[in-house]
Amino acid sequence: MRIHRPWLTFLGSFIADLTVRAPQLPAWGESVLGTGFTVGAGGKGSNQAVAAARLGARAGFITRVGRDAFGDLARATWRREGVDTEFCTESATHGTGAAAVIVHEGRGENAIVVDPGSGMQLTVDDLEAAAGRIMASAVFVTQLEVPLPVVSRALAIAHGAGVTTVLNPAPALPLPPALLALCDYLTPNEHEASTLTGIAVTDVASADRAAAALLERGAGCVIVTLGANGALVKRTGETVHVPAVDAGPVVETTGAGDAFNGALAVALSEGRPVAEAARFACVAAGLSVTRAGTSASIPTRAEVDRRARA
Ligand code: RIB
Repeated sequence: MRIHRPWLTFLGSFIADLTVRAPQLPAWGESVLGTGFTVGAGGKGSNQAVAAARLGARAGFITRVGRDAFGDLARATWRREGVDTEFCTESATHGTGAAAVIVHEGRGENAIVVDPGSGMQLTVDDLEAAAGRIMASAVFVTQLEVPLPVVSRALAIAHGAGVTTVLNPAPALPLPPALLALCDYLTPNEHEASTLTGIAVTDVASADRAAAALLERGAGCVIVTLGANGALVKRTGETVHVPAVDAGPVVETTGAGDAFNGALAVALSEGRPVAEAARFACVAAGLSVTRAGTSASIPTRAEVDRRARA
């Protein structure tokens, strides 16, 4: 008998993205004139949950926000996008996270400094309260913008219940093999794969070597996202390079990895083989970089399906 697991559950942070477009990064002590400023909904976990919801999934989010204007932005975003917030709590002591995001006005690439704020106040007890939801999920996804013990406990709950687990190891931290063994899918970008392995990941060949090292340490399947080079999918007996999708001029790359991870989770929950799921995720990421904003840039299911058919 097939067990129906309708939820895609995401654990992570909400971050208010304070984004400025600029011709260059300032050096320490230097000021640079920017060419546009926005405040938008961000945070890797929230962006990924929003991506899954836009792609048609029943997405739920576990986090903690502050009692402040950025917390209001978070709640308004999840309400509008249809993300379930039963396990989103409030901190009475810490403000909602915020990030300084600098986007290159020509190339669209980004540099980010993030303070996760209240997201770092999540506790293992919060996780225990959400354990039933995690165990009832088709896929569980998390990142590293919340405390590592919370990430670890959540992955253990999900893995123990046979739920498909995805860890997007961002921002990168050294990870013990015991934690990697709880990850069915590990999805670093080039920088994160380099940090995790000590192998300089600059192209598909070096991504392959880093992915092999991470498989060796216990991850079930490694998907290295490579920006304009697409993604490298590697698991025992299978290595596939999925090319990037060129959906138009690049406006902003912030959140492309989140579009990828949210879409990957949706495709895996639909039972697609991993290489096909990565292709679907590359379409979502390719569309997202043609637009400004982070969660604002994530495409809908109709847009992704249309582009995938083109
Ligand atoms: O992955 C992009 C996200 O990383 C941004 O939204 C920013 O908030 C940081 O968390």
